[in-house]
This record gives sequence, C-alpha cells and structure tokens, in this order.
Amino acid sequence: MSALVVGNWKMNETAREATALARGICERLGASPPSHVRVVMAPPFTALAAVGEAIAGTPIALGAQDLFWKDAGAFTGAISAPMLVDLGVRYVIVGHSERRRYFGESDDDVRRKTRAALAHGLQPVVAVGETSEERDAGITDERVRTQVRAAIDAIAPGDLRRIAIAYEPVWAIGTGRSCEPAEADRVMRLIRVCAGGLEDLPVLYGGSVTPANFPSYLAFDGCSGGLIGGASLDAQAFASIVRAASER
Ligand code: PGA
Repeated sequence: MSALVVGNWKMNETAREATALARGICERLGASPPSHVRVVMAPPFTALAAVGEAIAGTPIALGAQDLFWKDAGAFTGAISAPMLVDLGVRYVIVGHSERRRYFGESDDDVRRKTRAALAHGLQPVVAVGETSEERDAGITDERVRTQVRAAIDAIAPGDLRRIAIAYEPVWAIGTGRSCEPAEADRVMRLIRVCAGGLEDLPVLYGGSVTPANFPSYLAFDGCSGGLIGGASLDAQAFASIVRAASER
C-alpha cells in the first residue's frame, strides 16, 4: 500500500502565501515526487483555488480541512462537498480535534460529514484521538474505538476502502510532545481492527510530527503515513517528511 502524507495547514496562509508555500514544497520535492507516496496539501478554504492552480500538473492532491454534510442551503458560513469537488479537492479532513474542541463537533457530526464526503467522491481523512484526561483515566482505547465506530457506522464495505483514519492524540497536537511510536502503533492497530481489519486502510499518525521523528513511526507496520500540522508549513520540513515516507 502506498503511504499517505497529508499537510494540514489549519488557519494559516493567505491565498498568496499559500501559493508560495505550495510552490516551495513542489520545488523541494523536485520534478517527480515519489510515485508511491500520496501527498496531499490541505490549505484553508480561501486558498484552495490558488493552491489547486499551484499544484496543477503535479501528483500532489488538493485537500480541505472540513466540510458540511448538506449539499446546499441556508447554512451560513458552511462549505459543502460539491463546492469542494468543484475546486478540484480530492481529500477532506473530518473530525479534527480542533473542530471537535472549538466548534463542538460530535461523533455524530463526524459520521454525517464522512458520509457526505464519500457520497461526492471525496476521500475522508477521519481524525480520532484521546485527550490527556482520557489517557490518564485509562480510556484511550474505548474513546478511539467509539470515534472510529461512529465515523464508519453504516458505511458500505466498498466505501470503507476510500477512507483514511488518522490517530492524533489530542495532547500531542501542536505541543511538541509526540506520542511514543510503539504506543502510537498499538493504537493504530486497534483502529485497523475496529474498522474491520482492512489490510489496505490507510491509518496515519499525527501529533507533533517532524522530519526527525517521522521515520520512527514509519518503522512500525501499523503506520501508513502522517497527518502533519506545524511541519507542513515549512516547505523543507514537509518535503523531508514526504521523502521519509518514500524511503520506508
Ligand atoms: P501538529 O498538528 O503536527 O502541529 O501537531 C497535527 C494536526 O493537528 O493534524
């Protein structure tokens, strides 16, 4: 299975800045980025068109950071799957912990969004993970299982093949405190089992990934790639992470 590396730019970069970052990453990856790594850039909505143009003709795919589950209507501020498809988006992050925490997204919302993405041919990258309180309380596995089951509930087996799941311990996101690779591997294996044991389901690690620590996650079979936040805003660092995935 080819590795998957998704850069989540979060609420960073204007359209102009995003274009420069996308070009910088393309330059560092060279004329032919590794063919067996799927690379995704997920800029903010306002920069999707610009980044789409900057990566046109390269194997890099465009991703969005969120979507709403309705196709159209009176939902002020929301963005639908058809709008994303129209811009050439192919992947969409769903259920990121920052969406859950700051925007009150529930497991049920994540399920609706995942289904909407699939219905429109987008590949959802569903983020799951426990908070530090949940880890301390010893309910990491239970929390992750609940999140995975909610996201994939009633999804047809054929569609399940188009999902990726990212294990992102909330306490490791943007904190510089990455999860110990063997523990991340344990939880990623649990996720795979919970999602029906599909061999080719991409299960990614995310949370303070850097070029220095990424190879130690990739060293475990349970890890199919990464969801990268901070390091995806640095062209050099992101290109090194992609290269590490290509060398595994
Ligand atoms: P980080 O973010 O790499 O900055 O920790 C990861 C994420 O939120 O997807």
